[in-house]
Amino acid sequence: MYIEKLMKKGSAFLGSKYPIMCGAMTWVSDAKLVTAVGNAGGLGLLAGGNAPVDAFEAEILKTREMSDNPFGVNLITVSPNYKNHLDMVLNMDVETVVFAGSIPRAKEIAQVKKRGAKVLCFAATEALAYKLISMGADALILEGSEAGGHIGPVALTVLLQQILFKVDNVPIFVAGGIATGRMMAHMLTMGAMGVQLGTRFVMSKECTAHYKFKEQFIKAKARDAIATPAFDSRLPVIPVRALRNEGHVKFGKLQLELIEKLESNEINRNDAQYEVERFWMGALRNAVVDGDTDFGSLMAGQAVGLVDEIMSIQEIMDELITDGEQTLADIKDQLCDCK
Ligand SMILES: Cc1cc2nc3c(=O)[nH]c(=O)nc-3n(C[C@H](O)[C@H](O)[C@H](O)COP(=O)(O)O)c2cc1C
Repeated sequence: MYIEKLMKKGSAFLGSKYPIMCGAMTWVSDAKLVTAVGNAGGLGLLAGGNAPVDAFEAEILKTREMSDNPFGVNLITVSPNYKNHLDMVLNMDVETVVFAGSIPRAKEIAQVKKRGAKVLCFAATEALAYKLISMGADALILEGSEAGGHIGPVALTVLLQQILFKVDNVPIFVAGGIATGRMMAHMLTMGAMGVQLGTRFVMSKECTAHYKFKEQFIKAKARDAIATPAFDSRLPVIPVRALRNEGHVKFGKLQLELIEKLESNEINRNDAQYEVERFWMGALRNAVVDGDTDFGSLMAGQAVGLVDEIMSIQEIMDELITDGEQTLADIKDQLCDCK
């Protein structure tokens, strides 16, 4: 198969049959989803999020009980529980660690590598990519701003040209807006070692997210997955891509009110910033676990507009591979003009 040829290095690097990662998704990526992805030949990543350290450890053990397939963990460097997560993971012989949130320290990357684990880091800009390589990351995930969840400022098409086409000393995986085998095949021909998908895997039978959360994914168009509004540099907002809902409108109004109060000196900048940061606390859990689709955070990438069917992980993976293979066969026919 052509696709296996292009996937060979990425599969060897990740230790999975296919170099297709199911990106960690807080409150979504649990042992069940990760196991299903592993059984279908991909690499699942457990989300540390801000889980209590015991719960995160229990999920790692549960995943190990459920299957022997390789899997990885995702640590969010800005999470209040980050240090405890890292200490726990260092003692768990985990094979793959993905650092997310902001930049991990070089010392932390070295600690993980010393334990024999591979370190992958997100690169959302060109400068960050080179910095992370110099800090010892084993591989990068280029994530474009079309992705779901916390996002960087640059689209994947630009990151590909800035980083994928130039860097040849570490494996590069790509994420953001990928939902089809056809796109995956084109990414591989461009030199990506593999892909990471999030939004597509939310729409799986094994994903335990609330049915109302998935229902919104089915209904949504690509344009409904919008970045959090931000109006004033005095009130910085960490951008998140999520489906537009009443929470977004309320968040926009809150910022406008706070800006007015800042201007009339009714509030100081610290208190205003606290109000901004407080707004979305617990909102992802409310949406994913409790099904609050009006005010919860419906994190989703623009790829939400590409698929509207809930399938099993095995079916998704089979479709990605079959369509990817067909795409490569079509490219070969185009090039050799042998039809
Ligand atoms: C609901 C949701 C939660 C997410 N949570 C995390 C997270 O905890 N850590 C992380 O590194 N990325 C997180 N992401 C990003 C995904 O891991 C993945 O990189 C992204 O979804 C890829 O882009 P796509 O959605 O276009 O496929 C999340 C994405 C979604 C949709």
